Order: sequence, then structure tokens, then C-alpha cells
Amino acid sequence: MQILDGKLVSKSVKNYLAQSVTIQKEKGKKIPHLAAILVGSNGASETYVAGKIKDCEEVGFNSTLLRLDESVSEKSLIEHIGFLNDDPDVDGILVQLPLPVHIKEEHIISSIDPGKDVDGFHPVSMGKMVNGLPTFIPATPYGIMLMLEHYKIETSGKYAVVIGRSHIVGTPMSILLSRNTPYGNCTVTQCHSKTHDLASFCRQADILVAALGKPEFITADMVKEGAVVIDVGITRIPDNTKKSGYRLSGDVKYDEVAPKCSFITPVPGGVGPMTRAALLKNTFNATVALKAVMN
Ligand code: GUN
Repeated sequence: MQILDGKLVSKSVKNYLAQSVTIQKEKGKKIPHLAAILVGSNGASETYVAGKIKDCEEVGFNSTLLRLDESVSEKSLIEHIGFLNDDPDVDGILVQLPLPVHIKEEHIISSIDPGKDVDGFHPVSMGKMVNGLPTFIPATPYGIMLMLEHYKIETSGKYAVVIGRSHIVGTPMSILLSRNTPYGNCTVTQCHSKTHDLASFCRQADILVAALGKPEFITADMVKEGAVVIDVGITRIPDNTKKSGYRLSGDVKYDEVAPKCSFITPVPGGVGPMTRAALLKNTFNATVALKAVMN
């Protein structure tokens, strides 16, 4: 059994990006600039956005954090996004989700310039991804693909089961694994909360991606011997013995599942750091590689 070490792989992605930025600077070219919008003060969202800003600093990107009150109107939020769309110094824009209930997520996402949509959630980005065109890939599935590539995990012809159908993870993940590309070419089944006998699908999976958000849901009896298990879950469980008051739990019961696996991601330290690294890659691509094709 080998641990898929997201901390390690994300470091190598970040080192590469930091070097690329240095080269950009030396050539007098533009430094990537990510603008993040945080509405309200949800604890997990605060942590995620702070992490994204810190990551930018680490690799030498510029960043802007725009904090808006929980009560901000949809119209006002769209206006803020409009300013960022029009600002030539801003390369990437992300609006941290979830948003307060009075704001419709799809209105906000659709108001982002697709050329700056580093989260890859805009319908234009999603459509291009489905069609196999160059675009921004949502950071979590993109990070998972980078991890498969780093560890040279054989995927072609394998049976992959993705549990979850969110726009952020499950749906793009199932598309990426089934595409005719390196680290694709899987036969994919996408399972969800209405799937009958979920365990029987899981037991057949050569590659199992758990993105259902139910702590320790995947037990050893649901996993095939030698499977590759990717745990996307990250739930905060109240825990008085921790300084933060909580511990993080994945969707996989790691201790009993790990011995059966060929490869497995830990939580924390697996998919999470890869998601952060993939967002940085998208931001770099917004400045350089995708600039020409997106406009
Ligand atoms: N909320 C949970 N995951 C994400 C993400 O990848 N991007 C944004 N913007 N919000 C999120």
C-alpha cells in the first residue's frame, strides 16, 4: 500500500510555479493575480480563502481578497465581479462557495468572465471541459488528475466509481476519468444518494473516488483488494482534545480500508493540498497558457 502524499506532490507543483513566476518576472512579463471574494464569515470558507491567499504569496503571485458582508445583494456582488472582470491586472477571479441563501450561485458564477474563471465553474468552462477543449478544470478533480499523473497510476481500461454528483467534484471527476487522455480512459460509473446497492458498485471499483461528504462512510468491506482510493471528504467533527475544537474526517474509514489498497489518499494531506495547487495552476494558466485560447 502506498500513500498518495498530497503535501509532497503539491509542493513540487508549487515549486514549479514559483520558478515559472520568477522566469516571467525576469522577462518583464505579467505576474499572475488572483482575486478572491468572500461573502460573510463561514468558518470553513474563511480557512479555505486564507489558504488560497497564502498559497499565492508562497509562489509569488499577487492576490486580492475582497470581503463582503453577509447581507450584500446579488446585484452588488455582480457589480464587484464586473469591476474585477474589467481590471486588466486581475487574471483569475473566484467567489468562495457556499453563498448566503438570498444569492443565486449560478447568477454569480455566470457573471465571471470565462477567461478569468479559475474555479472552472462557469457554464462556458464546463462546456469546454466536456468537449475536451482547453479550459479551466475545477480544482479538486484537476488536483486528483495531477496526483494520478505524479504517481503514474495506470487508469486506462480500469473501472472507476465516483460517488458524488456535485458540479465542483463528482461530475467533472467522472468526465475527466472517462476522457481519451493520459490518466483517463476509465470505464466510469457515477453513483449518488439514490444509487441502489452502492456497496456492490464500490466493491468492483479499481479506482474509487469518494466525494459524498459522509465521514467514514466507505468501510473495508466496500473496497476491492488492490484498489486505488481517493478520499475527497473533509468534514469537521467536534473534538475537545483538539486546539481548534474539531478534527477532520474523510469519507473513507482510513485505518481499515488502507491495508486493502494499492494507493490511498490520507485526510488531511491528500486531496486538499492538491486542490490548492490546482487552483494555482489554473491562475498561472489564466495569465499565460490559456490567455490566448480563452479570449
Ligand atoms: N467551496 C468548496 N469548494 C470550493 C471551490 O473549489 N471553489 C470555491 N470558489 N468555493 C468552494
